[in-house]
Amino acid sequence: MSSREGSTELSYRVASMDREHASQLSLFNDLKAAVRSGAPDSLVYALLNELVEHTNLHFLSEQLAMKLHAYEAYESHLLEHERLLLEVQNLKHSLTAGTATDKQSLIEALRSWLVVHIQTADKTLAEYLSTRAAQPGT
Ligand SMILES: [Fe+2]
Ligand SMILES: [Fe+2]
Repeated sequence: MSSREGSTELSYRVASMDREHASQLSLFNDLKAAVRSGAPDSLVYALLNELVEHTNLHFLSEQLAMKLHAYEAYESHLLEHERLLLEVQNLKHSLTAGTATDKQSLIEALRSWLVVHIQTADKTLAEYLSTRAAQPGT
């Protein structure tokens, strides 16, 4: 890959991270709204599955970028991803029990965690990738 192609690929990756974060948060909002309005379990599960699928792909894409560009904090970032996926699985089990308020609190807690992840670990990663994109020969 030429340095120009490498820079373009990195700039594209940072832009797509932003889009994927917006989709992730919007899926959380949809899920919360569905639970709040007392939507049927089938719809809540469908939204949750969509969120899990989207999150899996998004995390894999970030992990690939970290590996490809020798990101030092790979392991700790990976652990945060694994933790969120585990919590989403737990949420899936919890949705069969509990009140709508419990479910909304769980969803809100996870959403807040994701916002913190985006504002800290992902922000640092995006800055690193942007720096690499600006450097010749990366
Ligand atoms: Fe991340
Ligand atoms: Fe992310």
